[in-house]
Amino acid sequence: MSELLPMAVGIAREAGALAARRRSQGVAIAATKSAVADIVTEADREVESLIRDRLKAQRPNDGFLGEESGSAGETTGLTWVVDPIDGTVNYAYGIPSYAVSIAAVSGSSNPETWVNEIGVVFNPMSGELFHATRGGGAWLGETRLQMSPEPTEAGALLATGFGYDPATHAAALALLARVMPLARDIRRIGAASLDLAFVAAGRLDAYYERGLHPWDHAAGALLVSEAGGRVGGAPSGRPGRDMTIAAGSAFYDRLAAAIES
Ligand code: IPD
Repeated sequence: MSELLPMAVGIAREAGALAARRRSQGVAIAATKSAVADIVTEADREVESLIRDRLKAQRPNDGFLGEESGSAGETTGLTWVVDPIDGTVNYAYGIPSYAVSIAAVSGSSNPETWVNEIGVVFNPMSGELFHATRGGGAWLGETRLQMSPEPTEAGALLATGFGYDPATHAAALALLARVMPLARDIRRIGAASLDLAFVAAGRLDAYYERGLHPWDHAAGALLVSEAGGRVGGAPSGRPGRDMTIAAGSAFYDRLAAAIES
């Protein structure tokens, strides 16, 4: 699988450069999707088609699942799971925390069977490119990533996100109140792939969020597991719409217990 990494990295860099170039020309919100905060820009669509075209040219038999264009190509081999601009609200407002997220997963077309094989998360604003292959470690450029040690009594630096659906906000705030006693401080970065990359890099102790889609977490989840961390649902199982948690294994259990309480 590692032979596909340079291709994925090259595509992520090209896609990130396109996103940044389009942003510098001004940004137009093309549509809102499920809620006012759930926006899509012309750039999201353009960047996704660039990624899709490049993958189709080089890997015509692989499957594809993208945030903006959905899925194409049933496969029993590899599927590319893509968020062209993760952190679209940051992007639209000019906050330099967004990323191109590209993962390759193996398994059938049923996401429940997926095994993350490759993950690339590229922030064109900072120039940081995080990558991982299954069994090959997680990396920020040339530096191998290692999770931070388990948080001390002083508490964890925790990140989270809030789903776009206003009907879920009261529950999200109640959940936040339950996890606060474990936290030294809280961050809402606004791009799930960067939250996960930062956990892998030890910049955050842990991250949790309800409502994520595979394109939000597939690449970042591999970064975390390859950096020695644990990613899943609460209290266990796969990450997904119900809950995604990323943390060191002991703190994972404490965080999952607080979430479940
Ligand atoms: C969103 C971001 C955000 C998270 C949302 C995601 P998008 O992705 O990752 O941080 O809170 O759940 O949907 O829409 O910007 O690609």
